[in-house]
Amino acid sequence: MSDLFDNAINKYSKMIDTENGLVDRKIFTDPEIYIDELNLIFGRCWLYLAHESELPNKGDYLSVLMGATPVIVCRGADDKIYAHINSCTHRGNTLCRADRGNTKVFRCPYHAWTFDLTGKLVALPGEKQVYDCKIDKSKWGLIQVAQVSTYKGLIFATFDSEAPSLEDYLGDMRWGLDLLLEQGELVAVPGTMRWTMNTNWKFPSDNTGGDLYHLFSTHRSAFLVDHSDGDGVTAASEHLKFSDLCAIKGFTMLTAYGHGYNADYSSKKLDTDSVLSQWRKNPEVQKKLGSFRSSIHRANQNIFPNLFVATGSRELIIRNPISPTKTEFRKTLLIDSKADSEVQRMQVRNSNRHFGPSGLFEQDDGENWEQCTIGVSDIQAINQPLHYGMGVGNGKFIVDGGSPPRIESLINEHYQLWMYRAWSEFMSVSSWEQLKESHSKPQGVV
Ligand code: FES
Ligand code: FE
Repeated sequence: MSDLFDNAINKYSKMIDTENGLVDRKIFTDPEIYIDELNLIFGRCWLYLAHESELPNKGDYLSVLMGATPVIVCRGADDKIYAHINSCTHRGNTLCRADRGNTKVFRCPYHAWTFDLTGKLVALPGEKQVYDCKIDKSKWGLIQVAQVSTYKGLIFATFDSEAPSLEDYLGDMRWGLDLLLEQGELVAVPGTMRWTMNTNWKFPSDNTGGDLYHLFSTHRSAFLVDHSDGDGVTAASEHLKFSDLCAIKGFTMLTAYGHGYNADYSSKKLDTDSVLSQWRKNPEVQKKLGSFRSSIHRANQNIFPNLFVATGSRELIIRNPISPTKTEFRKTLLIDSKADSEVQRMQVRNSNRHFGPSGLFEQDDGENWEQCTIGVSDIQAINQPLHYGMGVGNGKFIVDGGSPPRIESLINEHYQLWMYRAWSEFMSVSSWEQLKESHSKPQGVV
């Protein structure tokens, strides 16, 4: 890590100007900043790993990333969820190469050191036959991820033993997450969908938490070819004109530690025609969500730093930074286990038409994120900050008890600046203890 804590205020706080809405281009490409992000953001935050339904049986495992670190998440013989760094303690070899599977042990392909599901080193060739093999197996187990926890089926982990509980980290964001997680008895569709893009991870993250501004331009071609939901209902062609987009009513919500989203309110046309919206008529779901949340059509959310949650198409996409300019995406698609198979098929089709490798929206967005990454790398432009200031100085928080504090505005850059503010806060303190004291909270939150 660099010497940033000697001059923390100078180094990162100055790169984000929240009063004027300016963001320094260097934060997207500088290799030293990337290493600091791995330590200070991805080394501290709770990061999404998987949905519990992907590990139903003892011995089930998935290979995932936490930031740039390969991790094995598995269900132990004691039914607990474990997360280990996927690196053999002998020569560092990547231990597990499969995306997912079921096993009793993880055996390294190089010299066959063998670890059980809890990460303990249980066997190594030579320990009996080679006379000077003096390895204390109790000390050479896999490196454990410090904390693992779940929220309504979502498994998260953090490398930082001092991080607050997952509940506290998510805070008021849970109110938003429940918009998806209370829609039914959700399970993940089996299989692995992962892909890479030549983008810095922050461009997809800042888009995710509330960039309705780009809908009519970036996704225009998708609307023009009648991009449709999984049941064949054509998506909102009213998004084609900016003036029509501006007429959509909704809100922006910002919660502590950099999470947030925008959401639009339901209209009859949007929400009752489709068989995919039938869950809205379930009285139990309505009771859990309450009247205000039941009035929300969809929300696009970012759990800081890098988890996209789409409540409309029921997907979670984690964007992991494998270099300053390359990001790995991995998607979890949730369907209702109680829905009939035809509806489940529509739910899958609906999701895949929007986001993921086959999603029209994903391709529209990805093209822009890659080109932004190329653009901010340009040496002649590097000192011109980016303008993220739409709505700066506006945006009054409404605190009426109907929800956590919200801003009744849909097209703005409040979330983007909120995210970069959190970015600079994480990058400017040396411990969670400091961060708990110093981090920003929305107005109306004590
Ligand atoms: Fe894993 Fe040697 S590197 S056993
Ligand atoms: Fe988009």
